[in-house]
Amino acid sequence: MSFDAIQLIIQKREHGELSTEGINWLVENYTKGLVADEQMSAMTMAILLNGMSRREIKDLTMAMIASGETLDYSKLGVPTADKHSTGGVGDKITLPLAPLVAAFGVAVPQLSGRGLGHTGGTLDKLEAIPGWRAALSNQEMFDQLQDVGAVICAAGSGLAPADKKLYALRDVTGTVEAIPLIASSIMSKKIAEGTGALVLDVKVGSGAFMKDFAKAEELAKVMVQIGQDAGVKISALLTDMSTPLGRKIGNSLEVEESVEVLAGGGPKDVVDLTVLLAEEMLRLAGKPDQDVRAALNDGRAMDKWNAMISAQGGDPKAELPKAKFEHVVTATETGVLSKLDALSVGIASWRLGAGRARKEDPVQFGAGIVLNKVQGESITKGEPLLTLYTDDEARFDRAMESLEGGIEIGASAPERKLLLGHIQG
Ligand code: URA
Repeated sequence: MSFDAIQLIIQKREHGELSTEGINWLVENYTKGLVADEQMSAMTMAILLNGMSRREIKDLTMAMIASGETLDYSKLGVPTADKHSTGGVGDKITLPLAPLVAAFGVAVPQLSGRGLGHTGGTLDKLEAIPGWRAALSNQEMFDQLQDVGAVICAAGSGLAPADKKLYALRDVTGTVEAIPLIASSIMSKKIAEGTGALVLDVKVGSGAFMKDFAKAEELAKVMVQIGQDAGVKISALLTDMSTPLGRKIGNSLEVEESVEVLAGGGPKDVVDLTVLLAEEMLRLAGKPDQDVRAALNDGRAMDKWNAMISAQGGDPKAELPKAKFEHVVTATETGVLSKLDALSVGIASWRLGAGRARKEDPVQFGAGIVLNKVQGESITKGEPLLTLYTDDEARFDRAMESLEGGIEIGASAPERKLLLGHIQG
């Protein structure tokens, strides 16, 4: 069936509902270059302003999946489960989580991305490990899932190419924020990846993509509906991102902290969230009520980590890259660290070199921030509060600027609630 792009744009502009055939035609022809970027820009703006129904969102997601290849792990003979986080500061949870879940016989095919802006990317973190390789063929991925049970690698260009093109367009047309477009973008890649179960970690707070609870909850609900409509076992946790996760932010630093968690230690919030997500993934994959903490304490998860890193050429025992320079920020008064803002810390870490401003920029593996104190802890005037790391001393001033207003010392701190909501599929 043939359609006219202009008619479809006008239909959406006038609050109409696009048909399944119309959406399929639009996505297919946009991917082929037959619908122009300026027409798709008008359409994405109309969607941002006027929204989409549940059926339209499902159709859009399915059309984006159909634009590329889909992976199939049914021949593995074990259940599969994956997690997607909308991204935050110090969010290294994928690193301990994938081997932890694999330790219970559930395979984890985790396709990840690189960081852009103040939130780090999982691949950038793992690339801090000498020798580790992010690019795997589909066959290598399958073999590693069979042998080890967990793989974290780069999403190949074959998955949902329509989304790649559309996401780049949204980025330059002020249409990133449309919930139907965010939800279909994320879910098209996750469904194409072929996981049987999916847990979404939707972050809420200053360091998150969604700053307020209502928007994050709406996004989570729409993504859960798409998963249900596509036959994926799915649920979403809404978790706090008003202050960073853990005590280490930056690529090598986050690998270090993940290994602490896999060795049975690590900061409480990182451990608690890892356990919460692992329990949820195992529940959806048909293995409820497992003693997940035991696998962190007795080395089973660490064994899987070592096997997972080695299988991709990495040396799990190698020393991680360290930054050339450090700068300690001390407390200006005595009291309780009442505010340590995630966005300020994320931007500071990014400016130190841990993140990139443009897609093609390199990252510094050793750059980042160690939180000597976290929100809620007591501190004495002159004590270390944060330690900043970079290979390029000139970056300290700009990093310090972004911390202004992000740190407060007072009489008390608000109690932190990590889990803010749970949407069951
Ligand atoms: N991440 C994605 O993959 N897509 C979006 O639209 C937003 C975040």
